[in-house]
Amino acid sequence: MPDPTLSLPRLGILGGGQLAKMLLQEAGKLSLDVTVLDPSPDCPAAPLAKHVVVGGYHDAAAIRDLAGHCDVLTYDLEHVDTAELAALEAQGLKVFPSPASMAQVQDKLVQRQVMEKAGLPIPAYAQLTGAREAAFAAFGYPLVQKTRRAGYDGKGVAVIKSAADLTKALPPEGCLLERCVDLEAELAVMVVRAQDGEMRSFPAVRMVMDPRANLLDALQVPAGLTPALEAEAKALAERVAEAFKIVGVVGVELFLDKAGKLLVNELAPRPHNSGHYTIEACASSQYSQHLRAILGLPLGDPRLLSPAATVNLLGGPEGVGPTRVRGLAEALAVPGVHIHLYGKAETRPFRKMGHLTALAETPQAALERALKARDAIRILPEQA
Ligand SMILES: Nc1ncnc2c1ncn2[C@@H]1O[C@H](COP(=O)(O)OP(=O)(O)OP(=O)(O)O)[C@@H](O)[C@H]1O
Ligand SMILES: [Mg+2]
Repeated sequence: MPDPTLSLPRLGILGGGQLAKMLLQEAGKLSLDVTVLDPSPDCPAAPLAKHVVVGGYHDAAAIRDLAGHCDVLTYDLEHVDTAELAALEAQGLKVFPSPASMAQVQDKLVQRQVMEKAGLPIPAYAQLTGAREAAFAAFGYPLVQKTRRAGYDGKGVAVIKSAADLTKALPPEGCLLERCVDLEAELAVMVVRAQDGEMRSFPAVRMVMDPRANLLDALQVPAGLTPALEAEAKALAERVAEAFKIVGVVGVELFLDKAGKLLVNELAPRPHNSGHYTIEACASSQYSQHLRAILGLPLGDPRLLSPAATVNLLGGPEGVGPTRVRGLAEALAVPGVHIHLYGKAETRPFRKMGHLTALAETPQAALERALKARDAIRILPEQA
């Protein structure tokens, strides 16, 4: 009997960070042949990959080398070279999500134009042209200034409440302006979309502030929405996945305003921070779903098996240096806790070094467990 796993396509991943690592952990269950491209030979995904192509994310020769090792190509980052990937796609390589979808997502102005055309509810926006002071006044305060490209983790976003905030404004080039939403909550929904357009969505998650640190960095699920609002959030997220013809998983960030209206903020066409909880809390994780979609396998069951909370594990403020982790035993003693350390060789203040998910009977109890476990862990440079 031929080994059935041998007939599965070979997978290539552009980028070897933590998302690639967690995708590889899932791919390992099927013994898939996976090649990763990353500038660093000791990137988080490297120990789990069959081959590592060392090269820049935009290095055309390296990308072609990666393409030579795979039948299906996907990414762990958004700011990929879509022209190079489109050329490979034209030569018959399967690239998911498609370079055309990625190009639309990479530019936040185009992202909004696509959503507007699809009739999706989004905050009012405009392209920033001319001098900021006049443009801001014409658009009206309060507003949010965003860079069109290459923003992440809130970099490239400035909230401008009034003319007095002009000093907080970003440089004017390549920006858009957006109405500042009076936020009741921030939510996210992960959707998986197959090559034939079939979609399934995971439960909505709520971003919560750590009440002690005032940091927006914990996620709770279920989000505590009414069934009608939960259904609306999922339906909106699926309309977003459809509008951009995403194949694979996509994280859709939503705003719930004080009037109870849902608006789409943005999308991340890949496994997403807000979907890490699915590894332990759902019947089929976001990584499993991504593999199923891009390899043309049946989609899995996104059902929630347990309330959960996820928090990031960030590098401590002590400084830069070889990574040391303290307090792991104490954190693992908290019931229901699952710890993921990404294996980054160097820690830096506030660098994403891992995350943990806690399961419990209620989302509140899960959050308490997650914060207790996180408080026990310190990630710091060796010398500190
Ligand atoms: N129109 C808006 N009204 C109110 N708050 C906003 C608005 N746009 C952005 N924000 C706030 O800024 C945060 C970051 O914005 P956004 O998600 O657009 O940027 P990002 O850099 O892509 O972020 P990340 O990578 O963290 O998802 C949002 O999570 C929200 O808290
Ligand atoms: Mg965001």
